[in-house]
Amino acid sequence: MKKKLIVGNWKMNGSLQANADLVSGLLQGLPAPLNCGVGVAVPAAYLAQAQVLLQGSAIAVAAQDVSQHEKGAYTGEVSASMLQDFGVRYALVGHSERRQYHGETDAVVAAKAQAALAKGITPIVCVGETLQEREAGQTEQVVKRQLAAVIHHVGPCVSELVVAYEPVWAIGTGKTATPEQAQAVHAVLRAQLAAATAHAERVLLLYGGSMNAANAAQLLSQADIDGGLVGGASLKAAEFLQIIAVAN
Ligand code: G3P
Repeated sequence: MKKKLIVGNWKMNGSLQANADLVSGLLQGLPAPLNCGVGVAVPAAYLAQAQVLLQGSAIAVAAQDVSQHEKGAYTGEVSASMLQDFGVRYALVGHSERRQYHGETDAVVAAKAQAALAKGITPIVCVGETLQEREAGQTEQVVKRQLAAVIHHVGPCVSELVVAYEPVWAIGTGKTATPEQAQAVHAVLRAQLAAATAHAERVLLLYGGSMNAANAAQLLSQADIDGGLVGGASLKAAEFLQIIAVAN
């Protein structure tokens, strides 16, 4: 059976002390044996700390973003090779907060995915519709458009992607998509991947949007939900560990 993957997205939270406490709680409570992948997407400022804290552990370091540019005059940006220097295994690309507050277009997101792949970092491509789009019956069209841009850009590397479906209306709202709603979109994404690669089954499709200890089991039991991208609930070691235990 395919191993599930649970990634915590800390967003712009944390401090040296809080991160150390959180990671120590996670390392103490990880199930043994661990049969699922686990990662934490930390703010760029704490990548060095995370690398040290997680060295040799089963928890992978993830970045929350990556520049589409290789290097040069891009003040404030962090390149894929810089992430590589810090042992980063995954990079989120196209999180809705980046699309919404930083104007990231589908084309930029696709270029970011490609930049990560070029340095051996697995992009976690985030897609998802707003409430307005869902209510207008555009969910499928929106997520397919967002994923298509990446598929076209990365060509034969499609099977190396991780894709996260995060309905924008479910992020940080406590309003989770029902397992059926999430599965329906995941099935659409799986079919779209299958049209592009013979290895679509291998691509991990994560659900994100108010996933917590109480709803994880139902979501993770759906046929095309291969894991979770967890925001708020990943900031508490005990709750994140409960989600990991479900995936395990
Ligand atoms: O990337 C994770 C995410 O956006 C979901 O956040 O707080 O609803 O779990 P949250």
